[in-house]
Amino acid sequence: MDKLELKSIDFVDQNIEKLASMFPNCVTETSEGIKIDFDQLKQELSHTIIDGVKERYRLEWPGKKEAIVTANLPTTKTLRPVREDSVDFDNTENVYIEGDNLEVLKLLQESYLGKIKMIYIDPPYNTGNDFIYKDNFAKDAQNELLESGQKDEYHQRLVVNPETAGRYHSDWLSMMYPRLKLARNLLSEDGIIFISIDDNEIDNLKKICNEIFGEINFISQVVWKSKYGAGAKTNGFIDVHEYILCYSKKPIGSLESPISEESKKSYNKKDQNFQTRGGYFTQPLMTTSMDDRPNLQYSIFYNGIEIKPRKQWVWSKERLEEAIANDEVVFSLQNDGTYSVRSKQYLIDENGIERKGKPLSVLQGPYTQEGTADIITLFDQNVFGFTKPISLLEYLFSFQLNQKEENEGIILDFFSGSASSAHAALSKNAKENTKLKYILVQLPEATEEKSDAFKAGYKNICEIGKERIRRAAMKIKEGKLQKAKSEGMFADFNDTQDYGFRVYRLDESNMQDVYYKPQDYNQASLDLFSDNIKPGRTSEDLLIQVMLDWGLPLNLKIQSKEIAGKQVYKVASNSLFACFSNDIDEEFAKEVAKEKPLRIVFKDAGFKDDTAKTNVKQLLKQISPETEMKVI
Ligand SMILES: C[S@@+](CC[C@H](N)C(=O)[O-])C[C@H]1O[C@@H](n2cnc3c(N)ncnc32)[C@H](O)[C@@H]1O
Repeated sequence: MDKLELKSIDFVDQNIEKLASMFPNCVTETSEGIKIDFDQLKQELSHTIIDGVKERYRLEWPGKKEAIVTANLPTTKTLRPVREDSVDFDNTENVYIEGDNLEVLKLLQESYLGKIKMIYIDPPYNTGNDFIYKDNFAKDAQNELLESGQKDEYHQRLVVNPETAGRYHSDWLSMMYPRLKLARNLLSEDGIIFISIDDNEIDNLKKICNEIFGEINFISQVVWKSKYGAGAKTNGFIDVHEYILCYSKKPIGSLESPISEESKKSYNKKDQNFQTRGGYFTQPLMTTSMDDRPNLQYSIFYNGIEIKPRKQWVWSKERLEEAIANDEVVFSLQNDGTYSVRSKQYLIDENGIERKGKPLSVLQGPYTQEGTADIITLFDQNVFGFTKPISLLEYLFSFQLNQKEENEGIILDFFSGSASSAHAALSKNAKENTKLKYILVQLPEATEEKSDAFKAGYKNICEIGKERIRRAAMKIKEGKLQKAKSEGMFADFNDTQDYGFRVYRLDESNMQDVYYKPQDYNQASLDLFSDNIKPGRTSEDLLIQVMLDWGLPLNLKIQSKEIAGKQVYKVASNSLFACFSNDIDEEFAKEVAKEKPLRIVFKDAGFKDDTAKTNVKQLLKQISPETEMKVI
């Protein structure tokens, strides 16, 4: 029912509406909401060009400059390991991070710069109903810490962004821009990014991606038919599609994808090689279309008959003779007594690798309904709406790998929702023996109290994501075991797949004084702090902060051992040693130096006394000159 407004008419609003209906191109989003662009209006009402702001070809919105500054601002936050939620923490190479992805992307900059093969993201589409995370520029700029704690911070910053809001597109763009900018730094030289999106923001997303990744690196705007059945009606059309925007870090050659079932049908001929090479089709080996090439103009003999090409052969004589010897050529006698000579194109090449297909810019499924089924199979109920089908993600994850003939690499998803990307990586690794690793980031966004997820005990989305990975891993592992049993291979069954994941949670710095990072410390500043570590922080918390500051990846193997009676962390063998015990003295330095660590870190207040601090440094320099020492 319409509600009485109980106030007089706002004529300004009414006038704006009238002008907007006459000149829709003069309506714009400003920092104060929807306004009329008077420069544009003046131009509409003038027969000559009006002087004003210089014209440029680019997308502008109120808040763009702030978004650029936001991306460049350093963070003082850290990641804290959460062993109790992790699976096989010590051995796994997969990472799950809880927290706002902007801060997390900043923290990953040094450790993962240029190391990510593929990014897949499925951000909020800005449908008007979804939540948009508002970065608090003023607060971040001042390094202000929230007294109310992390949890409240997330809740305060997640806001609904209705279409009627004056900054509808601007707020979404300001949220996406810094994240994409930081994400690009992490891509490897041959890396690619896929972004799911729908009609609400595809235009704007493409424009900022052209700006951030470069128009030259645009690969495709794939149309994905995402739903079967009736679908919802928008603006008269039945809306059953989304997009997957794809960019590369650097210009790359053509992409390859797994061959489609449809294309496989053309390999429909069989010969004695069927078991090893699959079916085949044939292609003519004589050509009249190429330039005149004397080295391709020769005769061959078959059954004692000389065969000459009408113009020339496709292959050189050596290549053709090799193919004949390998039974890859078909000779067929024609009615006119001549031979047609064709090559066999097998589905599987001589190295046992199936041929690749070319990715299409239109995908018919797999459908969202399949994504829902993926969730229900694991949880018996739909604990997360609109999750992406894992078969869609598996298909996308094959692209770069085929192009490079590689079977490993890190996949990053920093809007990971129900962790479908981790599920897809696990499933692909199981089926194809690939070694994809993943880094997932997700905000601990609270689930709605009325939702099935909340009733099932999942208080935030991270709880759903982590549980999905655990359940998916268990199911895949069990499936492999059953298969081995049914094929009588149980005795030899040795499953080395990485089913684990390390959980990290974004938190305020471990250090009391947030303005100093470990690498900023020098001898002069050593004396300034006696105990600069926040109470309640564990040695593993400190270790991870040191790893991030030193640019070491978060999935390196961490071991703990006793040296001269003190606990020492060894990261990736001798890449980094960390000892946060007290009473560090010369005896300990002599012992630890024998292991020749490349880097070593101590607690500033952990030395026995000032003399020990100086001596330890000297001893390390003498016994292990390669070792770089720092304190926190
Ligand atoms: C469309 S969903 C992703 C769904 C996912 N692809 C799946 O298949 O389950 C987008 C997710 O991004 C998360 N998100 C939004 N803003 C975020 C932020 N600033 N940091 C991390 N995650 C965020 C939301 O909580 C939501 O779960």
